[in-house]
Amino acid sequence: MSSERAAVELAKGVNGLEKIILRETRGSSAEVYLYGGHVTSWKNDHGEELLFVSSKTLFKPPKPIRGGIPLCFPQFSNLGPLESHGFARNKFWSIDTDPPAFPTNSSSKAHIDLILKPSEEDMKIWPHSYEFRLRVALGPGGDLMLTSRIRNTNSDGKPFTFTFAYHTYFSVSDISEVRVEGLETLDYLDNLKSRERFTEQGDAITFEREVDKIYLSTPTKIAILDHEKKRTFVLRKDGLPDAVVWNPWDKKAKAMADFGDDEYKHMLCVEAAAIEKPITLKPGEEWRGRLELSAVPSSYCSGQLDPQRVLQGS
Ligand code: BG6
Repeated sequence: MSSERAAVELAKGVNGLEKIILRETRGSSAEVYLYGGHVTSWKNDHGEELLFVSSKTLFKPPKPIRGGIPLCFPQFSNLGPLESHGFARNKFWSIDTDPPAFPTNSSSKAHIDLILKPSEEDMKIWPHSYEFRLRVALGPGGDLMLTSRIRNTNSDGKPFTFTFAYHTYFSVSDISEVRVEGLETLDYLDNLKSRERFTEQGDAITFEREVDKIYLSTPTKIAILDHEKKRTFVLRKDGLPDAVVWNPWDKKAKAMADFGDDEYKHMLCVEAAAIEKPITLKPGEEWRGRLELSAVPSSYCSGQLDPQRVLQGS
């Protein structure tokens, strides 16, 4: 019998909620809860956790899990009549045993396909029939890849429109030592100023107060440099033109029941999203949004982080 642990394992998580554990042969791993289709853990091959999950989150439906990668669908934030960030993050997803073929070949065995379809009850809240397929995969180097495929299955001939985000909570050593590269000089909507439009000035983005911004028409690659950890997260995205950057800082942290008072120091949300131009699908049409995350050692140049190498490198 092989002593190797399974690449994909179904297990019980907090409060008996079902989760799937993905393991890559070199040691990296990820965990996905069926509740929310929610990635709650991504570890590198040293077993270090790369995502932030609040110590205060209760894993108690119908509250969404605070941390990891909540899926915002079919509405980002309060940009519409639905509950904040839509309902996908507090529905129970199923394992999709027979997903339609993927055009890109994944050599990794460590992947899982999930599916969300509306119940009759759900259709009272959002009167549309859809299939939301999520694939979560670990690459051989420990990269985490999420692919969302959303199809309009309405039989009444009606299109539907949605906004979307992978609300990723990255774990960082100290928020005041973190910078984000790739968003400088871009336009953004400031959620703290009634979504007024501004242009980002100057260099990399650093953090010294609450931030809640929707950057528009962003590049496909964004880097988060964690100076203290000497680690850089690289996000690559496709079909997701916008990027939300959020840190609640101290006051808002205290106001959130499912978030520790000081936890804002150790997290940063950079969310690959489609917000400014909502997606419309006619019956039979499918949209795809892909996010690939990697964590690499930061490169140094005379004691300084060298973001250009990170952004230009592969
Ligand atoms: C961010 C929004 O994406 O999510 C913020 O830009 C919001 O405005 C944050 O506060 C958290 O939202 P929630 O619904 O998970 O508390």
